[in-house]
Amino acid sequence: MSGFAGKVCVMTGAGGGMGLAIARALRAEGCAVTAIDPKPAPSDFAAGAGGAARYVQGDATDEALVERTVSDAFENAGRLDYLVNAAGVAWYDRDGAIAEMEMAVWHRTIEINLTAAALMARHAEPRMRRTGAGGAMVHIASVVGLRNMENILEGGPIDAYQVSKAGLAALSRSLAMQLAPAGIRSNTICPGAVLTPMTAPTYEADPSRVDAMVARTPLGRLGLPEDIAYACLFLLSDKASFITGIDLVVDGGIMAKL
Ligand SMILES: NC(=O)c1ccc[n+]([C@@H]2O[C@H](COP(=O)([O-])OP(=O)(O)OC[C@H]3O[C@@H](n4cnc5c(N)ncnc54)[C@H](O)[C@@H]3O)[C@@H](O)[C@H]2O)c1
Repeated sequence: MSGFAGKVCVMTGAGGGMGLAIARALRAEGCAVTAIDPKPAPSDFAAGAGGAARYVQGDATDEALVERTVSDAFENAGRLDYLVNAAGVAWYDRDGAIAEMEMAVWHRTIEINLTAAALMARHAEPRMRRTGAGGAMVHIASVVGLRNMENILEGGPIDAYQVSKAGLAALSRSLAMQLAPAGIRSNTICPGAVLTPMTAPTYEADPSRVDAMVARTPLGRLGLPEDIAYACLFLLSDKASFITGIDLVVDGGIMAKL
């Protein structure tokens, strides 16, 4: 895909799964990537030729860390073009009905899945404006932010996760309106069921969960992190220059079914 060479991206959630696939794909296109994630840096984050790679092992809910990291990325390169919010947690065993869950689970889920994304946008936006070359943001939400979907463990609600993703889609649309005059676009990707470190333990613990998810997916398989990375690079790229404020569903057809 064209247009990424020499550009600069800040992102969260590159410690595994979709975020790592996105970081690797961007770097392979010549884009410099700075990432925040509490996990140790994966060995393949900075592997191979491509754009510069910087991995900050830390928590994207820490506003001082976010500001410092985004500012460093901008100052080092003299520009900032892209923001990708891929960080997220889904505590399938502790999240549930709002009437029953511990409120600490609610608060921390909202903090990581929504507030961290807002902090990244808050500190990326002025620097993207200052760069003056347009740019784009992609936030990884979920199909469960658009429609109700049951917890993959035993069914039933997963309220904190679901609300955090609906909030992220709303934030993305508001950013799209605020930033359109500056030529900066904001979109979400809403994945369906994707095999990543977030979901693998749950699927491995009971392979019938994989069968059930595959059965409800018209394209007949789980998604892969690369499926999301391809969609993300498209939305960031100039090929998507007339697309803003949308939620791009990448789910193998789940949402298309009644
Ligand atoms: N896997 C799925 O089926 C699925 C479906 C829909 C949406 N999503 C969303 O996709 C995104 C990527 O998830 P994934 O499936 O690749 O899972 P993952 O667990 O592999 O990746 C999420 C990353 O976020 C990081 N993270 C957690 N807390 C953080 C914090 N405070 N600051 C910065 N980073 C933090 C984790 O360390 C991890 O590396 C998440 O937002 C998730 O909610 C996943």
